[in-house]
Amino acid sequence: MLGYLFVCFLFFISLVLLHITKKRISQQGSKLPPGSMGWPYVGETLQLYSQDPNVFFASKQKRYGEIFKTNILGCPCVMLASPAAARFVLSTQAHLFKPTYPKSKEKLIGPSALFYQQGEYHTRLRKLVQGAFMPEAIRKLVPDVEAAAISSSESWAGGHIVNTYNEMKKFSFDVAILAIFGHLDNCYKGELKKNYCIIDKGYNSFPTRLPGTRYRKAVLARERLSQILVEIMCQRKERKVVEKDLLGSLMNSQDEKGRILTDEQIADNIIGVVFAAQDTTASALAWLFKYLHEDKKLLEAVKAEQKAIFQANNQGSRPLTWAQCRNMTLTKRVISETLRMASIISFTFREAVTDVEYKGYVIPKGWKVMPLFRNIHHNPELFPDPQKFNPSRFKVAPKPNTFLPFGNGVHSCPGNELAKLEMLILVHHLVTKFRWEVERSQNGVQYCPFPVPHNGLPARFWKE
Ligand code: HEM
Repeated sequence: MLGYLFVCFLFFISLVLLHITKKRISQQGSKLPPGSMGWPYVGETLQLYSQDPNVFFASKQKRYGEIFKTNILGCPCVMLASPAAARFVLSTQAHLFKPTYPKSKEKLIGPSALFYQQGEYHTRLRKLVQGAFMPEAIRKLVPDVEAAAISSSESWAGGHIVNTYNEMKKFSFDVAILAIFGHLDNCYKGELKKNYCIIDKGYNSFPTRLPGTRYRKAVLARERLSQILVEIMCQRKERKVVEKDLLGSLMNSQDEKGRILTDEQIADNIIGVVFAAQDTTASALAWLFKYLHEDKKLLEAVKAEQKAIFQANNQGSRPLTWAQCRNMTLTKRVISETLRMASIISFTFREAVTDVEYKGYVIPKGWKVMPLFRNIHHNPELFPDPQKFNPSRFKVAPKPNTFLPFGNGVHSCPGNELAKLEMLILVHHLVTKFRWEVERSQNGVQYCPFPVPHNGLPARFWKE
């Protein structure tokens, strides 16, 4: 009975709130975007989670057009599915929107991490992070990333079944650690890996303080990670060497008033970068392997491109160079097409900081705003025959704001060059030295929360 009364109460409150918003909006002479708010409180959450989210978004777009409203997990949202709208929210009018993440997730990564921030602090941090991952900075990483690629790929050989996604996660973790710390003591690396894995497992679990739960374990692992990072920073301070990696940039930064970043701010950003770098790159690589495996002709063409480099390097006895990586034309197109097809970050979230007018509609203050990257990447008017894996479409540069695998504007991905570099290097070693077979019936997508091939793409690898 009490439960029933509670549901009625929620229903009543939701109706009142929606009515107040509508009245306020109509008094201003504007209207809310079309769409359905679903059931009180739960909104359309069940519809979203009971089907493929892409089908949910695509059917909404078909019905209402490029801008529509809905309600997910009790939050009123406006979804935007056009390049112009994505640009409006993320770039030209970015100051009208702020990043928004659940507090429980912020706690695990660290509230001072780049992607939760805006304004001056964001600009300052962004310069540092972007600086550490610019082409000039990452070109010196080629030999180390290559060593990581060789050691990873060697470990899969032998014909046993490998969970491709999990292996890619190990590789992308190692590369992130290299880019952040340079050569880190193996003991610290092991400790960071062990504790980060616990955070990774708890990240999408129910947030509770109850001992023994995944979330609680993740919170404790996060505390341990902070301690390890403080120890690493202390050692660097004692050595008095100014390193040029991300940790060095963060430790040595001073703003115009001479203020340095606190250990806590640095730790939040280090963990933030690992978080942003690992699953995204791993998911992209797993899809890339799947698409290449499914198109033998394309695989042969990629092999030919890579074998030419392999031979130029005296059968791989000389290391890859930065210039060779920059000239892998076909492989680069395959990566772009993978990022379009798989749309790893299918959408992002912002929150309107004020009532915002867009194309005659109002987005009320406090509503969530979601630019839908995947809908843009799969729009047949922008990418003809969008379900076909066709790297040659990237022979011509995509129209502005239509290809957004790394986002757009002030929060766009500062690690995009590193992500592409590590993919190119791993593909080079994979196709020149190995053949692989994907286990039967591995179609379908799993959301982890990024889209990943079914079961992580179980596959067998053999050295050729
Ligand atoms: C294929 C791999 C990757 C994809 C698809 C990807 C995608 C994205 C996207 C779409 C955003 C913007 C999110 C938003 O606007 O809300 C973003 C932000 C970010 N990415 Fe990546 N990313 C990848 C790899 C990496 C790597 C390797 C790093 C670091 C080494 C990295 C670091 C970051 C950071 C720090 C942000 C936050 C930027 C900010 O808020 O200013 N990412 N990424």
